[in-house]
Amino acid sequence: MRTLKDRKVLVTGGSSGIGAATVRALRESGCEVAALGRSRDRLAEVCNASGAGPAAADLADEPAVQVAVTAAAERLGGLDAVVNNAGLMLHSRPSAGVSSDWRQMVDVNVLALLRVTHAALPNLEAADQGDVVNVGDRGGSDERRGLHALLRHQGGGRAADGGLAPRPRREGSA
Ligand SMILES: NC(=O)c1ccc[n+]([C@@H]2O[C@H](COP(=O)([O-])OP(=O)(O)OC[C@H]3O[C@@H](n4cnc5c(N)ncnc54)[C@H](OP(=O)(O)O)[C@@H]3O)[C@@H](O)[C@H]2O)c1
Repeated sequence: MRTLKDRKVLVTGGSSGIGAATVRALRESGCEVAALGRSRDRLAEVCNASGAGPAAADLADEPAVQVAVTAAAERLGGLDAVVNNAGLMLHSRPSAGVSSDWRQMVDVNVLALLRVTHAALPNLEAADQGDVVNVGDRGGSDERRGLHALLRHQGGGRAADGGLAPRPRREGSA
């Protein structure tokens, strides 16, 4: 049976919430972890407390994502897994017509998941058993909530599970 010990994991959205908790839990399980986010202060706080390494980048910036993922893999000596956790919900319903909000949600919730997975693929494929874990949101499928772009969060995650992950095994939704 595989254990988490010594596995090298990149966690996006590692600077707060579920991502920060995941960073801490993985460190407690013996993983080497890189935590990705924009806020250098919050990343430093999480990393100093857990022993993870910071990977500061804006997930909407494709070249910056490539640089951050490559640097994290070099620092960890490879990547066994990526946790695509970063996401945001701007509560902008289609009726509100705030297209900049929708663009930001699709960019971070969907495209960034593909960017990070793509950037990590050479390392995941070189790993013994590379894993991609995509954190989604069942709320995206509830039309009554009008979470138009969030629905794509879940849909995009599924597409990536099927098309990009080297060995997709399971999908988790909160
Ligand atoms: N909390 C819930 O009840 C809940 C329920 C269902 C699903 N989820 C899903 O779980 C995930 C985490 O949720 P959470 O509540 O823990 O969120 P959160 O506390 O708001 O944290 C979001 C994380 O995403 C990062 N992030 C956002 N935009 C980014 C960008 N452009 N570039 C880099 N990093 C970015 C943030 O880092 P910086 O601010 O440092 O950039 C932060 O670390 C999300 O995908 C969410 O959809 C959450």
